[in-house]
Amino acid sequence: MAVIGFVNAGGGAKEYPGKMTAFVFLICLMAATGGLILGYDIGISGGVTSMDSFLIKFFPAVYHKEEEDKGTNQYCKFDSQLLTTFTSSLYLAALIASFFASTVTRVLGRKWSMLGGGVAFLVGSAINGAADNVAMLIIGRILLGVGVGFAGQNICLNNNSPSQSVPVYLSEMAPARVRGMLNIGFQLMITIGILTANLINYGTSKIKGGWGWRVSLALAGVPAIVFTAGALILPDTPNSLLERGHDQQARAMLRRIRGTDDIHEEYAHLIAAREESKKVKHPWRTILRRRHRPQLTMVILIPFFQQLTGINVIMFYAPVLFKTVGYDSDASLMSAVITGLVNFFATFVSIFTVDRLGRRVLFLQGGVQMLACQIAVGTLIAIKFGTSGEGHLSHDYAATVVAFICIYVAGFAWSWGPLGVLVASEIFPLEIRSVGQSINVSVSMIFTFIIAQIFLILLCHLKFGIFYFFGGWVLIMTVFVAFLLPETKGVPIEEMALVWKSHWFWGGFISDEQISVLHMVDRINGTHNSNHECPVNFPPSLTKSSKILKPTM
Ligand code: BGC
Repeated sequence: MAVIGFVNAGGGAKEYPGKMTAFVFLICLMAATGGLILGYDIGISGGVTSMDSFLIKFFPAVYHKEEEDKGTNQYCKFDSQLLTTFTSSLYLAALIASFFASTVTRVLGRKWSMLGGGVAFLVGSAINGAADNVAMLIIGRILLGVGVGFAGQNICLNNNSPSQSVPVYLSEMAPARVRGMLNIGFQLMITIGILTANLINYGTSKIKGGWGWRVSLALAGVPAIVFTAGALILPDTPNSLLERGHDQQARAMLRRIRGTDDIHEEYAHLIAAREESKKVKHPWRTILRRRHRPQLTMVILIPFFQQLTGINVIMFYAPVLFKTVGYDSDASLMSAVITGLVNFFATFVSIFTVDRLGRRVLFLQGGVQMLACQIAVGTLIAIKFGTSGEGHLSHDYAATVVAFICIYVAGFAWSWGPLGVLVASEIFPLEIRSVGQSINVSVSMIFTFIIAQIFLILLCHLKFGIFYFFGGWVLIMTVFVAFLLPETKGVPIEEMALVWKSHWFWGGFISDEQISVLHMVDRINGTHNSNHECPVNFPPSLTKSSKILKPTM
């Protein structure tokens, strides 16, 4: 079953006694609202920037240019650094805030850290909804970014050290068997957030009086209220209590959240994890060691490539892009709803196939699909607008462009979307998982910021070539996956080193000593007994490396 596979591969899950308690339910709600908030913030800005009333109030120069450019250069009509700052500032703020968030979490505990994030969300959405000038818009977005930084972007399957608070809170509180589900569930929630934003923009654009955008922006506060209330009600995690030396409270809390007294084994593991994490004094230095080069490379390149697919050009700017190809405001917002729906439904393909087909098949198939669509869209636009940007698309022609964009979005939604997070979270050994996750989130935020900031200027200068530009990157990342990303399907997390060791390129970075002798012996003797339900498909070359090690035992 897909979900079990995620748990095993992603979490190295161990089944402890316990049941679904009210706390666990609230935790799932938190996960849901965290993802919704993030998705909502991704989807909302593009829609409001395509509304005339919003442009007239805050970006009159862009509005006039858009009016003047009707029938002339389409590529440049939205080119404004200030306009893109409205979208992008959130991600820069999130990046900076996440550095502070880890300190706040360590000192005050996760609860206060999340509460701080929730309040920033609330104030940010209130300022945005009430905005009277561009400064208020950007300050509001920055505060939303602070909220995102505190809430954390990814479900991080990390058990023992503080980083972004919601993911850690979730993986610490949730029973192991739902941890993996939360991982992909979080991505699904992001897609629901984006879709909700698209739908709300479509609805509010019809409000007479031109203040619908206020409703769109202020509604970001709704999931923020649930989130803040959750942070107030939810207790600190056992791990967090242990980290701060409250051992007795931690034990009591574990009993409470698992709904059973039979927590001794899990408690012992939490203590062991705390001691283990204390031993790694310099995780940042450790991750730079040669033997961690494969993981370091992946955790930098995967989020980088994910953003270089160009997906956020669609997620942020779909309505603007559709207006650029000649749709009116209404049709543009409707087209954004359609891409949002495709993004949501296509994510299920990943959920149901990733543990059967494996990560590589989805990455490779999704990559080829995205590339083909980018070439098609670039070419369709080139034919009609050329380099001058002058032209007009007939209804059917524009619908064909939208159709290709939808197929592209589907390809992303079952490959780089969920897998970017999943693979990055399942390849790290415990001692550096937390820093690995921080690097992952930071790289993602930096490049989300850059793409959001430069897309409209790139469109103005590269014209239809922008689609070939992102297509070029998709080609590079697909070749990268083909040659350098090993399959991690069904591999227990603690045995991941074997996967690297057997790889034609990465194998050279892993010394034989690093491969757990114990696992080798177990495997050779056929006595390997992990708690993982998924079959482990090790490549044949591994058996060879096992035998090489045997005599040294
Ligand atoms: C990415 C976001 C993107 C979203 C689209 C996520 O995995 O990190 O940047 O907007 O997918 O669904």
